[in-house]
Amino acid sequence: MLDRVKTLIGEVGSFETSSKQEIEDFRIKYLGKKGLLNALFAEFKNVAPEERKAFGQALNQLKDAAHEKVRALTEKLDSNQEQTGIYGDLTRPSDPIDLGARHPISIVRNKIVDIFSRIGFTVSEGPEIEDDWHNFTALNLPEYHPARDMQDTFFIEKDPDILLRTHTSSVQVRYMEEHQPPIRTISPGRVFRNEDISARAHCIFHQVEGLYIDHDVSFADLKQTLLYFTREMFGKSKIRLRPSYFPFTEPSAEVDIYWGLESEIDHKITKGTGWLEIMGCGMVDPNVLKNANIDPEVYSGYAFGMGIERIAMLLYQIPDIRMFYENDVRFLSQFTPAL
Ligand code: PHE
Repeated sequence: MLDRVKTLIGEVGSFETSSKQEIEDFRIKYLGKKGLLNALFAEFKNVAPEERKAFGQALNQLKDAAHEKVRALTEKLDSNQEQTGIYGDLTRPSDPIDLGARHPISIVRNKIVDIFSRIGFTVSEGPEIEDDWHNFTALNLPEYHPARDMQDTFFIEKDPDILLRTHTSSVQVRYMEEHQPPIRTISPGRVFRNEDISARAHCIFHQVEGLYIDHDVSFADLKQTLLYFTREMFGKSKIRLRPSYFPFTEPSAEVDIYWGLESEIDHKITKGTGWLEIMGCGMVDPNVLKNANIDPEVYSGYAFGMGIERIAMLLYQIPDIRMFYENDVRFLSQFTPAL
């Protein structure tokens, strides 16, 4: 009999559960009206007188142990539930955090910057709100010059004119004012033009313009640099330069790359010609150098400029420029940095 009680004390001591129901079952089993303890106390009279003392002590020990176990398990359960109430289940794996994707404009800009940094170009930036001098006059576009109409401008203030820059050539003027040649810099940035918004044009877009000034820089240097760029950027190595006009360069050209006519898409984007216009370029006009305190007798240079949206649309086959600014995650989540 005594052994049985001792076994039960052992069992009570090692009992563990975190279920409320099991604690209750345990309590009823040991401490309930028809439980083991009452049954054992009822045996008391059958125990030999000389064993009663030890039996009584053992029973009391069992009773205390059972009470203590119920108390301890209930307390533990309550404290767990309290935490669950405030924080939820702390052991549960957390919700996965959705990784964002880079905006296609950033991907393409980074790639352009990367390609030119490899051949020694630095990155320069300037203000989006510009004065007339840096956006127009210093670039050989004096007041009333008809070519100002090439870039419809958002004016912020009149006399003196303060405006939203229409190209990042303004940054190049600032850069030349602060640095003497050799200059090799590209200026990525957001530009603004007062144009009707359509699938192909927007009043806000991005450009990367490049400037290279040193002794004896020639048109051949320009062409070679552009060839390097188109090879790295598009994997295409055939370009052509068509004569064009920009007030800040002389001579000026539009750069076309030969895209090919292999697929139906090629036909569509090149309008059946195989050629695609991707940027403007030219030799920096001596007047521009003079305006920025660089001696055109000593130095010469080239400049080029391209729209990032246009290139991103080509590379990703994006049909509508407005998609870049809608911030629709279904669009944005499709782009990964690998290009
Ligand atoms: N600034 C011109 C534009 O916005 C691009 C360009 C840059 C052309 C440099 C020639 C040389 O269209």
